[in-house]
Amino acid sequence: MLPAQQALLRQKLLVLGSLAIGSLLYLVARVGSLDRLQPICSVESRLAPRPLGQILLRTLQYKRGSAHELHRVNGTQEQVGLQQLVQQLPHAIIIGVRKGGTRALLEMLNLHPAVVKASQEIHFFDNDRNYARGVDWYRQKMPFSFPQQITIEKSPAYFITEEVPERIFKMNSSIKLLVIVREPTTRAISDYTQVLEGKERKNKTYHKFEKLAIDANTCEVNTKYKAVRTSIYTKHLERWLKYFPVEQFHIVDGDRLIVDPLPELQLVEQFLDLPSRISQYNLYFNATRGFYCLRFNVVFSKCLAGSKGRIHPDVDPSVVAKLQRFFHPFNQKFYQITGRTFSWP
Ligand SMILES: *[C@@H]1O[C@H](CO)[C@@H](O)[C@H](O)[C@H]1NC(C)=O
Ligand SMILES: *[C@@H]1O[C@H](CO)[C@@H](O)[C@H](O)[C@H]1NC(C)=O
Ligand SMILES: *[C@@H]1O[C@H](CO)[C@@H](O)[C@H](O)[C@H]1NC(C)=O
Ligand SMILES: *[C@@H]1O[C@H](CO)[C@@H](O)[C@H](O)[C@H]1NC(C)=O
Repeated sequence: MLPAQQALLRQKLLVLGSLAIGSLLYLVARVGSLDRLQPICSVESRLAPRPLGQILLRTLQYKRGSAHELHRVNGTQEQVGLQQLVQQLPHAIIIGVRKGGTRALLEMLNLHPAVVKASQEIHFFDNDRNYARGVDWYRQKMPFSFPQQITIEKSPAYFITEEVPERIFKMNSSIKLLVIVREPTTRAISDYTQVLEGKERKNKTYHKFEKLAIDANTCEVNTKYKAVRTSIYTKHLERWLKYFPVEQFHIVDGDRLIVDPLPELQLVEQFLDLPSRISQYNLYFNATRGFYCLRFNVVFSKCLAGSKGRIHPDVDPSVVAKLQRFFHPFNQKFYQITGRTFSWP
């Protein structure tokens, strides 16, 4: 063998070896990333600590570079899988609603082999400072994926933020939009409960829900209270419909997703034009938690964290009834527009 050939062979072995190690690291980090998110806890063994993911992405970029180099030198069409990894803009976004079950939905969709999730809420479209950084910044926040996979991000504030529909439309006017909703009064109380817990953690006192939700002067529902406003789903949706046709939205029943996730997930698979891959095997009920947990394979499972099933404070039944009456006409409109009817009061 000529020395030049030997050198090339050595270089090739080196690159292929590091690719193999790279793949292993990628798998480890992919698994590690499963329990990286704040509200998630893994049931079984934890693997990679967080920083590995960061190192890895850089390693992967480097691998792509060197694999490309190899091709140029050799000039053959070798399949180097990892080299195909790219950061893609989302094909679908879970735009809301807050406390509707957006995290559960994203985690469950991530069971699908063709779905790659952005772990963090990016807040690109609702935060002016982030938006000013441009779409390439946004893309760099996206996870690596293969081109045939689809990327999904969730930021529940998108649904209620004025500027967001136009901004998303400008990025991709045919993007698919997922909205997960729950019965509006329950959602408002859940919204309040989360804020209350935040205050309690800081040893701060907070108003009672009744005081915030009802205007003391008029005794009517206080529509200025954000937890109430967010639950008027049709108002927000109508703003979105100025940009996107209704066919581009899919409404997920957040109350059902919690008690019977599979049928809801199958509807989403259809909406996203994905082959049906999520099965009952991937979802098992944990009686201790009273909640479904996710099984990715024989080794890895995880459950949504306990804080996701918060106990709501007792709310004066007359206030609950008043809110339900208030939301009723908006709900009817929402059913009419979306074509999806719920048995909300
Ligand atoms: C390029 O790669 C092919 C397939 O691995 C191999 O058969 C060939 O010898 C390589 N060419 C050179 C110049 O090393
Ligand atoms: C826009 O979104 C649609 C639906 O997911 C996707 O098929 C299309 O490739 C996207 N276009 C761009 C430019 O990203
Ligand atoms: C809140 O109060 C408790 C009991 O008084 C105290 O132990 C804790 O350190 C306080 N936490 C904060 C964040 O101030
Ligand atoms: C079920 O939940 C309990 C309580 O969080 C946890 O300790 C246990 O490991 C879970 N079991 C399974 C099989 O997920």
